[in-house]
Amino acid sequence: MSFTEIRTPERGRARKVTAHTLLEKKRQQQPITALTAFDYPSARLLDEAGIDLILVGDSLAMTVLGYDSTLPLTMAEMMHHARAVRRGVRSALLAVDMPYGSYQAGADQAVRNAMRFVKQAGAEAVKIEGGSHRAALVEQLTRAEVPVIGHIGLTPQSLHRMGGYRVQGRSRDAIEILLADAAALEGAGAIALVLEGVPREVAARITAAASIPTIGIGAGLDCDGQILVFHDLVQLTFANGAKFVRRFADADALLRQGIERYQTAVGERTFPSDAESYHLSAEVAAQFETDDAFVASHSR
Ligand code: KIV
Repeated sequence: MSFTEIRTPERGRARKVTAHTLLEKKRQQQPITALTAFDYPSARLLDEAGIDLILVGDSLAMTVLGYDSTLPLTMAEMMHHARAVRRGVRSALLAVDMPYGSYQAGADQAVRNAMRFVKQAGAEAVKIEGGSHRAALVEQLTRAEVPVIGHIGLTPQSLHRMGGYRVQGRSRDAIEILLADAAALEGAGAIALVLEGVPREVAARITAAASIPTIGIGAGLDCDGQILVFHDLVQLTFANGAKFVRRFADADALLRQGIERYQTAVGERTFPSDAESYHLSAEVAAQFETDDAFVASHSR
C-alpha cells in the first residue's frame, strides 16, 4: 500500500486527495470536483462518490442552521459540524471555512482558531475570504502548517461592505483588483482559490495566470474545478437559487413525498405492518394467551 492510498475495512481502498492531487489535476487539465458537506451522511455520500474536495462551508449558517446570512455562525457551531463531516470523509481533501469573526481580529486569533480546526476537526485546509489584504495572514497560517484556500470575488462575509450579494469584477478597476488579489494569495502560499460570483472571462484569466487551482462557483466553465453548496445541488433550500445553481436532484420533492406517505400510512393504520413488528416466540405467546396467572400478575 502506498502513502497515497488508505484502506478502511468497511469501505475498501480509496485514493487520498491532497493539495498535490489538486495541483496535479490542474496540470493535467482534469476538472476538480468540490462540494460542501455539513453532516456525516452527506460527507459519506460525497466521499464515496469520489468528490475531490469537501468543504465545510460557512453557508452552513443559512442552509442548515436557518440564519439569514453567514455572519452569525460561531466557531462552536462550525466545529460541531466539521467534526461530524470528518467522521464521514476518508479520501477527499477536507477543508473548513473560518467563520466570520474567527480570523478578522488579528493573526494570533486566526492562527489559534485555524489550528483548532486542524487538531479538533481534522481539517486539512482552511478557507478564508478576502484578497491582497489577507496575504500576510495566508503566509502566517501557512508557516503554522495550516494550508489555506483563498476565496475572492463575491465574499459573503463582506455582505455589508458589498451592499448585497453582487457579482464582482465587472469594471476594469475591479478586474485589476481581482487579478492582483489572486496573485497575492498565490504568492502568500494559498493552495487553491475559490472564485465566487465573477464574470466567466475574468475567472478564465485568473485561472490561466495562476499556478494553483481555481475552483469556481458562479464563475463559469473555465476554472480548474467547480464547487456548489450540496443543498443547492439537491434542491433543499426553500429558496430560488442563484443563476449559477443547477439542480441536479430534487430532494425537496422526494422528502416531502416520503413524509406524506408516512402520514398516510399511519393515518390509515397500515404502518407498521405485521412484518415490521416484533413477536413473541410461539411458546411464550401461547402462555401469554392462556396462562391466567401469567396474565394476571402483569395486569393492573
Ligand atoms: O460556504 C460555502 O458554501 C462556500 C462556497 C464557496 C461553496 O464558501
